[in-house]
Amino acid sequence: MLLKNHGIFERHSLILTLGIVLVVSIGGLIEIAPMFKIESTIEEVDGVRPYTPLELVGRNVYVREGCYTCHSQMIRSLRDEVERYGHYSLAAESMYDHPFQWGSKRTGPDLARVGGKYSDAWQVDHLADPRSVVPESVMPPYEFLKHKVVSADHIGDHLMANVRVGVPYTQGAIDSAAADLMAQADPMADSSGLQSRYGGKVNARDFDGDAAKVTEMDALVAYLQVLGTMVDFTTYKPETADNLR
Ligand code: HEC
Repeated sequence: MLLKNHGIFERHSLILTLGIVLVVSIGGLIEIAPMFKIESTIEEVDGVRPYTPLELVGRNVYVREGCYTCHSQMIRSLRDEVERYGHYSLAAESMYDHPFQWGSKRTGPDLARVGGKYSDAWQVDHLADPRSVVPESVMPPYEFLKHKVVSADHIGDHLMANVRVGVPYTQGAIDSAAADLMAQADPMADSSGLQSRYGGKVNARDFDGDAAKVTEMDALVAYLQVLGTMVDFTTYKPETADNLR
């Protein structure tokens, strides 16, 4: 009986096509529909926090200058990458990045874990004149960032914009954004408020070696120095079928 009716499908290509669409969409629905029920597909990981106002400004400089055209920020789970750059990137590590900076081109190395790899002074020298520290480098110089003073006028709005796309900045963090921005780059400032909002691990110091003003160089170096350092991989355990409760 089934075999007899099957003839309809074999003789009419349109009916066969409709049959295929029907069967494939049932399979598709079974796979996709449950995804709408779960709140997030990103596994939460201890230590991941939203960027501080200064890091956020640095991240904007990174995007504005197109650093992503030469640098990726995603370490794949392949042996050569993990040996060169460190633990593969976790989804949670870029969950507060809007837009994310995974990139698709590596003229230069991956930067997902460049935080803490070099001193601030190295970063400043390298950004100002890459060939002064890496003679064969083809990276362009960004000396001008040392002279561009950061304004705190709109940083609160900037945090608000991130809240709109799901970054959990509190009202307190928005209200103190301008103060936090300045405090992070000033070694003399009281950074206790900054630390209460972003955690004790937050780097607060004069990043560009010029304590007189807060520049885009301060911001960019603060951003680079936090990349890949939020998660403590000595205690991190991936969620596997074995340790899922
Ligand atoms: C034209 C491509 C290009 C652009 C644009 C570029 N870089 Fe690079 N970058 C490189 C190359 C090539 C290297 C490796 C040689 C070196 O260390 O200078 C590098 C190295 C680096 C390193 C050292 C990484 C490591 O692990 O040794 C950092 C940090 C860095 N770049 C940051 C930046 C930032 C921030 C920007 C944007 C302001 C930027 N780069 C823009 C090509 C580029």
